[in-house]
Amino acid sequence: MKVIRTIEELRAEVKHRTSTGAGPVGLVPTMGYLHEGHASLMKRAREMTGTVVLSIFVNPIQFGPGEDFETYPRDEQRDLAVAESNGVDIVFIPGVQEMYPKPTKTKVAVSELTSLLCGASRPGHFDGVTTVVNKLFNIVKPDFAFFGMKDAQQVAVIEQMVYDLNLDVKIVPCPIVREADGLALSSRNVYLKPEEREQALVLSRSLNTALEQLEKGSITTAGEVRDLLTKVISESPIADIDYAEVLSFPDMIPLENDSRLSGTGNATILALAVRFGKTRLIDNALFQSKEGIPHV
Ligand code: PAF
Repeated sequence: MKVIRTIEELRAEVKHRTSTGAGPVGLVPTMGYLHEGHASLMKRAREMTGTVVLSIFVNPIQFGPGEDFETYPRDEQRDLAVAESNGVDIVFIPGVQEMYPKPTKTKVAVSELTSLLCGASRPGHFDGVTTVVNKLFNIVKPDFAFFGMKDAQQVAVIEQMVYDLNLDVKIVPCPIVREADGLALSSRNVYLKPEEREQALVLSRSLNTALEQLEKGSITTAGEVRDLLTKVISESPIADIDYAEVLSFPDMIPLENDSRLSGTGNATILALAVRFGKTRLIDNALFQSKEGIPHV
């Protein structure tokens, strides 16, 4: 496994591997502090491609003022061990100076999809994500790029960018990985105090309860789903709900309260963002009525 810190060296190495028949290139973009969710992306990339590039870059331009850019957890040595044990060929770890030698005057911004949910609570966040992901695509030139569905809105936004700009890369969304008790894996889980970690289980519990009731037909409309999600999450005295939304997926249009989720054949996403103390967690679940074909 090669560890590369400059764009020039990364380009030369990918070119060398491609020209010597290594096969398609897969990119797993991350901000490091790797966990089993990232490992699942690396494994999928390993299955599908001949060169697996893992990028580790805590991207300053996707953090707002007062967010956790400085304190975002970092552990390079551990990350390199995780990458190696998951069959990564190249780890690309650029510094901020390498990625943004001068303040950037160009940004890539996807409209509409980015104005709600995390885009509403974190203004500018998705512009930072699409700009850096575009840069990474231009640097690595991957055939496939792998993203976790925990950040479902991010997946939808990146798919839209790829479509709109005719980028020559196939996005591979990968399922959410959870702890045994249901908590979705996130690098930010490390911030949770034991009490908050315990209470955070209301996220997956609310999603599972809503999915079960939808399957049984005991609730059918978006309004009923919203109410149920809110009710279950509010069982935790410390949960502070940012949003508990029901939207079409991947176009991310909020459903009217009286819209029925069953019988449409469309995919629907149940999307949550909830604060526990200082930590904001997101989670989601896709619901596909039986007559439809699941998106992911
Ligand atoms: O999902 C993340 O970790 C980041 O948003 C990404 C895609 C690596 C861009 O910085």
